[in-house]
Amino acid sequence: MQADRRFMREHIEELLSIERESFADPKNGNIFTSLYDDAASHMHYFVSRDEAGGIDGYLLLSLAVDEAEIINVAVRPSRRRHGVGAALVAEALAFAVSRGAVACYLEVRESNGAARRLYEKMSFNVVGVRKMYYTAPPEDAIVMRRALEAACNDR
Ligand SMILES: CC(C)(COP(=O)(O)OP(=O)(O)OC[C@H]1O[C@@H](n2cnc3c(N)ncnc32)[C@H](O)[C@@H]1OP(=O)(O)O)[C@@H](O)C(=O)NCCC(=O)NCCS
Repeated sequence: MQADRRFMREHIEELLSIERESFADPKNGNIFTSLYDDAASHMHYFVSRDEAGGIDGYLLLSLAVDEAEIINVAVRPSRRRHGVGAALVAEALAFAVSRGAVACYLEVRESNGAARRLYEKMSFNVVGVRKMYYTAPPEDAIVMRRALEAACNDR
């Protein structure tokens, strides 16, 4: 499921359309093109495909030394609740373990119940709150962490 950065340019339009369908404050193409252009990037991306071969979800993972961070995960609304998000998280965590990461962090909007349930299901625990971390609209971020010492047997 992990995508080679060389294919990022081909995927950008699909990633941006999922982004627009998923967030009130969607990322623009810069984050994706900078990923593509920076061969040494610590960012990794994973895509999931539907039966027709289209991208129905993606995840961005940052990996620095022994710490991973889920930067973003989004699934096309029409494809939600089919296990795509969980599969993307499991794949990213397995990849992080294979690269020596011992913990994974993430931030999630306090009101984002669907994402918080997903992360709880994937064994993330709340470890803190960042006050007014988000803009548009302003909101606290819940910080979650999962230790990766144990083998990731989520798939
Ligand atoms: C959060 C998101 C990625 C989940 O993707 P998904 O493919 O629907 O998730 P899954 O089908 O793998 O669900 C896995 C588990 O997460 C939880 N979950 C997912 N969506 C949920 C919802 N709407 N309400 C409650 N729990 C939910 C459930 O525990 C679910 O397990 P279950 O279906 O066995 O009950 C998706 O809703 C999304 O793209 N949201 C918009 C973008 C976003 O907010 N991203 C997170 C940024 S931090």
